[in-house]
Amino acid sequence: MSDAMLSVEDVHLRVRRFEGVHHILKGVSFAVQAGERLAIVGESGCGKSLTARVLLGLLDRKRIDISGVARFNGTDLLGLAPAAWRGVRGRRIAMIFQDPSTALNPVFTIGDQLRTVIRRGQGVTRAEADGQALAMLEAVAIPDPARVLAAYPFQLSGGLAQRVLIAMALVNRPELIVADEPGTALDVTVQEQTLRLMHRLTAERGAAVILITHNLGVVRRFAARICVMYGGSIVEQGGVDDIFARPAHPYTQALLRAVPRLTGAGLPEGIDGSVPDYLSPPSGCRFRPRCPRAIDACAVDQPLLEVGPGHQVACGRAA
Ligand SMILES: Nc1ncnc2c1ncn2[C@@H]1O[C@H](COP(=O)(O)OP(=O)(O)OP(=O)(O)O)[C@@H](O)[C@H]1O
Ligand SMILES: [Mg+2]
Repeated sequence: MSDAMLSVEDVHLRVRRFEGVHHILKGVSFAVQAGERLAIVGESGCGKSLTARVLLGLLDRKRIDISGVARFNGTDLLGLAPAAWRGVRGRRIAMIFQDPSTALNPVFTIGDQLRTVIRRGQGVTRAEADGQALAMLEAVAIPDPARVLAAYPFQLSGGLAQRVLIAMALVNRPELIVADEPGTALDVTVQEQTLRLMHRLTAERGAAVILITHNLGVVRRFAARICVMYGGSIVEQGGVDDIFARPAHPYTQALLRAVPRLTGAGLPEGIDGSVPDYLSPPSGCRFRPRCPRAIDACAVDQPLLEVGPGHQVACGRAA
């Protein structure tokens, strides 16, 4: 889709290590439209956070080779020099990480940190930054925002700290927010509240969101579209309802069966085996060694093929 706000095309990521080259991301392609909410799901180690870090320019390019294209509103992200990233990261693309307690700097007050983000992002006066900081904490429903501005991170509960991070991500009105497992360090009720808050505020401001999560329940409530990752590739993508109703890839099917059901009987099923070794991954579909339906055709790379409107799957069985 050429009119997409973000277009990621055939991104490969290789990490050079002592023992050899780990080919982790293999041909990742997806697009995000302005204001859209996309979830990226997949089991631990499948490359979700690395994909986020590619989009935020947060990888050590001396050790890591990245090829492909990531175009964000006309900017070629993979070709950006470190200095040019300053105009993008935190301004046009913001991030929210998993653990609020490590994402904030312990030696500065919340007010100092929030004002720094605002002044760097918008070049406004101190007084203007003060006003925006207070208004933003009110927008994320922090009671007594003046007290929170004067507080140090250790004085805040996890839930309050997470709200501060959401405030920091939104305050410069980014076009895109990348949220990597936001709030998984929090208890579930607080996590739910902060996700709802993020949903409302990003919708009000028209910001697109890439939400990275393990939690398919969260996806259903938060996102309109899903990319399912396995072993460094997107194996299926489509609308949330479509994927839940008609999962086409055996990995997606297994992932959905692994969701605990509150009402159903019995335990969720696990998925046998483990994620591929990126030093010598299997050829073709990387799910092949674990796939109950694998056939010979799966030993070569599988393109994403349309199986329904906006629903694509990369599977030897779908070809
Ligand atoms: N900076 C890095 N340098 C080298 N290898 C890395 C780096 N970050 C991650 N990896 C490796 O890349 C693979 C994918 O990691 P990634 O963190 O993207 O997974 P993930 O899908 O986010 O998993 P989780 O759900 O556990 O957060 C893992 O095998 C990991 O060990
Ligand atoms: Mg991760």
